[in-house]
Amino acid sequence: MKNYNDYLSYSKKINDVYMSMSVLNWDMETYMPKNGNKFRAQQLSTLASIAYDLETKPEYGILLDNLSCDNSLNEDQKRNIFLSKKKFDKKQKYSAEFIKNQSILISNAFRDWRIAKEKNDFNYFKKSLQEIVDLRIKETKILGFNDHPYDALLDKYEPNLTVKDVDLIFDDVKSKLVPFISQISQNNNIDDSFFYQFFDHEKQWNFGIELLKQMGYSFDSGRQDISAHPFSSSFSPQDARVTTRIDENNLSEMIWSCIHEGGHALYEQGILAENYGTPLGNSISLGIHESQSRLWENHVGRSLPYWKKNYDLLKSIFPDQLKHIDCHMFYSASNNVKSSLIRTNADELTYHLHVLIRYEIERGLIGGEINVDDLPLKWNQLYKKYLDIEVPSDSQGVLQDIHWSHGSFGYFPTYTIGSFYAAQFYNQASKEILDIDAKILKGDMSDLLIWLREKIHVHGRRFDAKDLCKKITGEELNFKYFMKYAQEKYSNIYKLKD
Ligand code: CO
Repeated sequence: MKNYNDYLSYSKKINDVYMSMSVLNWDMETYMPKNGNKFRAQQLSTLASIAYDLETKPEYGILLDNLSCDNSLNEDQKRNIFLSKKKFDKKQKYSAEFIKNQSILISNAFRDWRIAKEKNDFNYFKKSLQEIVDLRIKETKILGFNDHPYDALLDKYEPNLTVKDVDLIFDDVKSKLVPFISQISQNNNIDDSFFYQFFDHEKQWNFGIELLKQMGYSFDSGRQDISAHPFSSSFSPQDARVTTRIDENNLSEMIWSCIHEGGHALYEQGILAENYGTPLGNSISLGIHESQSRLWENHVGRSLPYWKKNYDLLKSIFPDQLKHIDCHMFYSASNNVKSSLIRTNADELTYHLHVLIRYEIERGLIGGEINVDDLPLKWNQLYKKYLDIEVPSDSQGVLQDIHWSHGSFGYFPTYTIGSFYAAQFYNQASKEILDIDAKILKGDMSDLLIWLREKIHVHGRRFDAKDLCKKITGEELNFKYFMKYAQEKYSNIYKLKD
């Protein structure tokens, strides 16, 4: 391996292995029969070790070193080499023993978490969670950090994001969003009970497909299937898939998960195929990915113009269930802000308090200020403090999320960061796209999609998230755009006075 072309084909080869794993994972969540489990796990583990060998091969490291000093490369090529080398160097820091130990601890933790959740008893999870936390603390030392050990974990999901950044964001959430939410809760008399009638599976499915088409999602370069938990999975820009979940007794579940996953997949479909298999052919970070799903889900899919356009169709599909509901009632109900126990069911405002709670706990665990033993108590105290609700059980409390059992620490904040990026991007899009509301009112999303493609999708990983945000909006991530959006929208819905 000598030149940039050798690098390209090698990088694509690594990517091919990862994409093959993704196809197997997608299949596992959608169509694989129950008994397929055992050999599927083996197949995935074989592919994972092939990928690991390719990625850590010394010749590849030498090639990256040489190309790092090659001044004949153009800016994009240099960026690819820079990012591939960064990843290579990071991989070198982990011993084979660490990787092996990690996969054992995670599989134990996942098993124990499931039992604990089923039995509604945190004690079954305590020991393996402690082992995972110890492992992550060890990892922060392996990776290194400047200020706070948790920085090293944040960086895995959102490169260059630090505790300092996240603290700043959540200080704003605490001082501005929390009082706004309590103001709303004193004025909330929205009735959303009509969502919880019987809505036929196939009719829901067809409506969801129409929404995806309207967004500009290409079914020639993707497809939708059913899974237990909605997700999106991309194997190339020409095969970026989504899944949804349909509950015949809850209409809202399908609608907004469809739009959310569609937003993720539009990002993947917009990445340039010519960059396949290189860092520039990848999305930037989890936060930027989530900004795309939330922008479509909330800023478009929970807006009044959107439902002025789409409500008639929905009502014609379910005339009996929606007989007494007009467009405005539907819009208000889809923006019902209410404290609740479960993060994944939360509205777009209280959602961030769920994330704040997890962030404070993770930061404390990794920083050594919180003990695993105290988690249920700590969790329940924070739910009382920020959401003003009593947590009735561990299953509905500290055990509700899968993330910790998967060993994911540093992941949760990307949900909130993503939403706040979405608000800042959408604010900018509204300034640059002429009369965006009128276009949405006509069901014409093409200008918005083109804007997102040009500003974000086509660049792949050309810029870091922070730089991209500055390039698009002229400033770093700033909570004020989310707050402004929330205030305008919800003051109107709940008839609040300043
Ligand atoms: Co998402």
